[in-house]
Amino acid sequence: MSISAQTRAGAWLEIDLDALCSNWRQLRDCAGAAECAAVVKADAYGLGAARVAPALYAAGCRHFFVAHLDEAIALRPVLAADATVFVLHGLPPGAEPEAVSHGLVPVLNSLPQIDAWRRLAHGLGQALPAVLQVDTGMARLGLAADELDTLSADPTRLQGLALSLVMSHLVSAEDPSAPINTLQLERFHAARLRLPAARASLANSSGIFLGPGYHFDLVRPGAALYGIAPVAGQPNPMQAVVRLRSKVMQLRRIDTGMGVGYGHAWTAQRPTRIATLATGYADGWLRSLSNTARVGFEGRTLPLVGKVSMDTITVDVTEVPEDRLGEGTLLDLIGEGLSVDEVAGAAGTIGYEILTSLGSRYARVYAGA
Ligand SMILES: Cc1ncc(COP(=O)(O)O)c(C=O)c1O
Repeated sequence: MSISAQTRAGAWLEIDLDALCSNWRQLRDCAGAAECAAVVKADAYGLGAARVAPALYAAGCRHFFVAHLDEAIALRPVLAADATVFVLHGLPPGAEPEAVSHGLVPVLNSLPQIDAWRRLAHGLGQALPAVLQVDTGMARLGLAADELDTLSADPTRLQGLALSLVMSHLVSAEDPSAPINTLQLERFHAARLRLPAARASLANSSGIFLGPGYHFDLVRPGAALYGIAPVAGQPNPMQAVVRLRSKVMQLRRIDTGMGVGYGHAWTAQRPTRIATLATGYADGWLRSLSNTARVGFEGRTLPLVGKVSMDTITVDVTEVPEDRLGEGTLLDLIGEGLSVDEVAGAAGTIGYEILTSLGSRYARVYAGA
């Protein structure tokens, strides 16, 4: 008989769906009268949209945002019919009928996207739901100022479309003192005045914490749902959702002066016990964590020493009593005392990149909900 996937896996990615839902409720309460959506693009920031989205639906969420059409097509069947799935990138030209057949709502980011969706609505003889995105400063997606001029001069371009929302996206919401926040807010108000009346959405996770003026009718949190701190430099009010544990595959003793791993990027300064763990950069444990990250075990944090390899990392476990740790013991890469944001800080990146980089080789263990 074969052993379970969890037993044979080198590392476990544990996802706490109760903590996820509790974060969603906290954000919903913080957003007051506004509805609270969930951004579940990139496979729910790496945590598994097929498990995350239904859990959030059961908690009361009815609006789900993904980036790509294919993500939306995959997500649609795991949600009940009264949930709405929005496609942030809009639709590739020619894919409009497919979006209709799957019951998806595109975010229209340009005049050509608007025109294609309107033409299909006319052809079908039915109003098609749509979100209109205006660019208020991101210079990434959404109608630029000149496109908004063109559209407001000719409102017939929106005929046949049922505008569910007008939305925009904030540039620096995690920094409440950034002047661009109020500038974007002003531009968003001004843009709405030039468009047909519709519900509005501006705030991502961090935007919710900028206050009621940013909430409008719908807020769109992603990162904070998954436990990432929404406000830079402030204590994190969100619950941890992710625990990542990796197994000790081998233990060895090395003498003073011996090097460890590729390039001998770390050298023992004393007789040292080294544990080799079954996670590497192919699992999203970024190489920039070499000689930098810490690993948790029974209330201690231990240094990752040497380079991160493709499938392994090496940890100095000299401080751990020998009888506490052996082959098969699980050590925390993300967990108690080691938040996603701390790992990101050590790697020189953001929590978003840590979560979305987590690879496919983990045994995924869902708890709660
Ligand atoms: C348009 C849009 N809205 C909302 C979000 C969610 O942002 P956050 O994860 O910071 O809450 C994103 C994420 O990048 C986004 O692109």
